[in-house]
Amino acid sequence: MPGFVVVGAQWGDEGKGKLVDVFAEKSDLVVRYQGGANAGHTLVVNGKKTVLHLIPSGILHPKTQCVIAPGVVVDVFGLVNEIKMVKANGYLRDPSQLKVSDNATLLLPYHKLLDAAREKDLAEGKIGTTGKGIGPAYEDRASRRALLMADLFEPETLKAKLEFAIGEKNHLLKNMYQTEGTDPVALTQELLEIARELAPYRCDDTSLFVDKYLKENGRVIFEGAQGAMLDNFHGSYPFVTSSSTVAGSACTGTGLGPSRIKTVTGVFKAYTTRVGTGPFPTELDNEIGAKIRAEGHEFGATTGRPRRCGWLDLVALRYAIRINGMTNLALMKLDILSGHDHVGICNAYNLNGQTLTELPPSTQTLSRVEPVIEWLPGWKEDISQITEMTQLPPAAKAYIEYLKTHIDVPIEIVSVGPGREQTLWIRPFFEG
Ligand code: GDP
Ligand code: IMO
Ligand code: MG
Repeated sequence: MPGFVVVGAQWGDEGKGKLVDVFAEKSDLVVRYQGGANAGHTLVVNGKKTVLHLIPSGILHPKTQCVIAPGVVVDVFGLVNEIKMVKANGYLRDPSQLKVSDNATLLLPYHKLLDAAREKDLAEGKIGTTGKGIGPAYEDRASRRALLMADLFEPETLKAKLEFAIGEKNHLLKNMYQTEGTDPVALTQELLEIARELAPYRCDDTSLFVDKYLKENGRVIFEGAQGAMLDNFHGSYPFVTSSSTVAGSACTGTGLGPSRIKTVTGVFKAYTTRVGTGPFPTELDNEIGAKIRAEGHEFGATTGRPRRCGWLDLVALRYAIRINGMTNLALMKLDILSGHDHVGICNAYNLNGQTLTELPPSTQTLSRVEPVIEWLPGWKEDISQITEMTQLPPAAKAYIEYLKTHIDVPIEIVSVGPGREQTLWIRPFFEG
C-alpha cells in the first residue's frame, strides 16, 4: 500500500503531531524524514501532554513501529533524553519499536554553538532559529564533512572525524565569533557512552525496512516537520529552516521514490502562527492576535517563545497545496476561533494597488504586501466537545464552506481540541 504523508501547510506548529498520533493508531509505521529537534510535536492522550522533538509521533501506540530516516539531523544527546522521557512514561518498552538510520546525520554540540554564534552575529537581522543547531548540521551534510549515526559505533572513525570537524569548528568559533570551542577528547568520550545507549535502536538500512512494510501492505505514515513556508527552497528565504519541508522530502529523506506515496495531507490551523523572523502578511500585532495566542496557547513547544499570530492566509495555503501536491487537508484548532464577533480570512494580497491571488516568490515582495481581509460572522459557542460536524454552529459551518470554495482540495478532518477524541472526520479516507 502506498504511504501517507502528513505535512505542515503554514509556518509550522499546525498540529501535525496530534494528527499523526491519531493516524498512528491504525498504522504500522511512522517515519520522520527531515528536520531535527527544532520540531516540537505535541500529543495529548487522556489529558496528558507529551512533546516529541525527534521520536516519531507514533510512539505512544506500542504496536506502531517508528523510524528516524537518513534525512533527519539527530541531536544524539537530545534523542537519548527523549527516549528516557517516553520510557519513564511507560512507552517504548520494546526497543525494537524505534529504529534510527545509520545514515542519518549527527547533530553535535558544536552545531548548536555555531547556530547561537551566527544568530548573535546577525543581531537585528537574525533568523530567530530554535537554536538547535539545525543549519550548521545540514551544512556539514551538504559539504560532506558530517558524522553519521554509523560513525558512533566505530570508535576509531569517530575519533578521527571528530578531530577534523572540531578543528574547523573551533577555528570558526574562536577566531570568527570570539566564543569558546569544543574539547574533542571529552566529546569523543561522551559520544562513546551515547553509542551504548543508542545501540539497541540502530538500523543499517531504514529505506529497506520501510520498503518491506509498504510491499507487505502495511500502512506507513511519513511525518513532516516544520511547514511549507519554512522550506529551504520554497519558503520565505532566508527566514526558513535548513531542510526541505515539503512532501517530496518524504521520498528523498527516506530513500523511496514518489510512486510510493498515495496521500499528502496538509495540516493547517484556522488561523496562522509564525515563530522567528520573516514576513507574515496576516500578522495581528494587536489585541486580537494576543487573544488568539492566549486561547490557542501559542507558545513554542521547543523554545517556549510566543508565536506571532494572525488570520488564516489562503494565498499562502494555496501555495502550500501546490508545492506539496496536497491531496486533502486537516483543519486544526477551529475551537480557538470561537468568541470573535467577526473572523478574518485573507484571500488575496494588495501590492501597490495591484491584487495578487498567488504568493509572490520573492521574500522582499512578500514583506511588502498588505492582506485583503474578508470578514465572516463569528460564533461564540464552545465547540471543543462536539463529536459530529452537524453540531457545529452555523457560522462555523459557513466558515468551512467559505474555505471549500477558495481551495481546490477537500478538507477531510476538522480538529476541535488537542485530544485524540476531539477529531471530526468529514470523510474517513484513512480507513479506506
Ligand atoms: P506541530 O508542531 O505541528 O505538531 O504542532 P505543535 O504541537 O507545535 O502545536 C500545536 C498545539 O496545538 C499543541 O499544543 C497541540 O496540543 C494543540 N492542538 C492540536 N490540535 C488542536 C486543536 O484542534 N485544538 C486545540 N485547542 N489545540 C490543538
Ligand atoms: P514543528 O515541526 C515552527 C522556525 C524557527 C525559525 C526558522 C529556522 O514543530 O512545526 P531552525 O532552528 O530550523 O534553523 O529555525 O524555522 N522553525 C519552526 N517554527 N515549528 C517548527 O517545527 C519549527 N522548526 C523551525 O522558529 O523561524
Ligand atoms: Mg511544533
